[in-house]
Amino acid sequence: EDESKMVKRPPVVCVMGHVDHGKTSLLDAIRHTNVIGREAGGITQHIGAYVVEAKGEKITFLDTPGHEAFTAMRMRGASSTDIAILVVAADDGVMPQTVEAINHAKAAGIEIIVAINKIDKPSANIDRVKQELAEYELIPEDWGGSTIFVPVSAHTKEGIAELLEMILLTAEVMELKANPNREARGLVIEAELDKGKGSVATVLVQKGTLHVGDAIAAGSAHGKVRAMTDDKGRRVKEAGPSQPVEILGLNDVPNAGEVFVGCDTEKEARNFAETFIAQNKVKLLDDTKSKMSLDDLF
Ligand code: GTP
Ligand code: NA
Ligand code: MG
Repeated sequence: EDESKMVKRPPVVCVMGHVDHGKTSLLDAIRHTNVIGREAGGITQHIGAYVVEAKGEKITFLDTPGHEAFTAMRMRGASSTDIAILVVAADDGVMPQTVEAINHAKAAGIEIIVAINKIDKPSANIDRVKQELAEYELIPEDWGGSTIFVPVSAHTKEGIAELLEMILLTAEVMELKANPNREARGLVIEAELDKGKGSVATVLVQKGTLHVGDAIAAGSAHGKVRAMTDDKGRRVKEAGPSQPVEILGLNDVPNAGEVFVGCDTEKEARNFAETFIAQNKVKLLDDTKSKMSLDDLF
C-alpha cells in the first residue's frame, strides 16, 4: 500500500483474562460507565467495542468474555487487535483462561500489557502474579524482562491513568497507520437479527472509511449501509480506521469474524457475497490460529 497515503490510526486493544478478573469493571472505570451492572449474572457473553479518549488520543477497546465457553470470541478478539491487555486478579493469580488468553495473544503476534487488577483487596499478592506469569515468558521490566506490568484497581481507580499511558506509549512505538481514503475493509465483530431493524452488525473498520449509503459485502451477506451508530449510540455518517460501528442494511446476518468490504456498487457487493458463498474463500478468523492480514485475503 502507498505509504504516503497512510495516516496515524488509534490502537485497537483487546481486554482478555480469566472469568471475573475484572475486565469489564476496568473498562467501566476507564469509561465511567456501568456495563457490568447490566450483564446477566455479571458474566460477559459477547464482545463489546468502545472508543475512549485519553490525553487527546483515541483508543478502541474490545471487551472479551473470560468464561471458558467463549474461546472463539477470545481468539477473534486477539486476532483483530494490536495490543492485548491481560487482566489478572491479584488475589486469584494465573488461571486457565489467563493461560488461554496468553496463547491467543502470542499466536496473533500482538503486544501484551499485563494489568494486575484488584490490588485494593487485602489478599492481593502482586509478586505472586509476577512469578506465575514469568513461567509464560511474561517478565516485568523491574525483573529484567520486557513486559509492561501495571497494578490497578477498577474499584479505587488506582493505576488506571498509568495503564492508559502505557497503552498510548506502546501504540506510539508500533506506528499504527492506515489509509482512510479508500474503500472500507474490516471485520464483523458480531451480528444479529433484530425484529425491527433487520440485520444489525457491529463492524471494526481497519482501513478506509465506511459511509452511510456505501455498498457493502460482509461474508455471505451484502447490501447498502442504511444507518450507522457509534459505540455511544450516536448516529454517524462515516467511520474510519480503528472505529467500531453498528450498521444496518445487510440482507443477512454475517458470522462474527468474517471480513467486510466496502464496494463501488451494490452489484459488486452481491457478487462478492455470492463468490464468498460459492468458494468460501475467506476463512473465518475463528478457524485460524494466527493473525490474518486483510492483504493476505484480497
Ligand atoms: P467476565 O467478563 O465474566 O469474564 O468477568 P470480568 O473479567 O469482566 O469481571 P467483572 O468486571 O465482571 O468483575 C468481576 C467481579 O470482580 C465483580 O464483582 C467486580 O465488582 C469485581 N472487581 C472487579 N474489579 C475489581 C477491583 O479492582 N477490586 C475489587 N475489589 N473487585 C473488583
Ligand atoms: Na464477570
Ligand atoms: Mg466482563
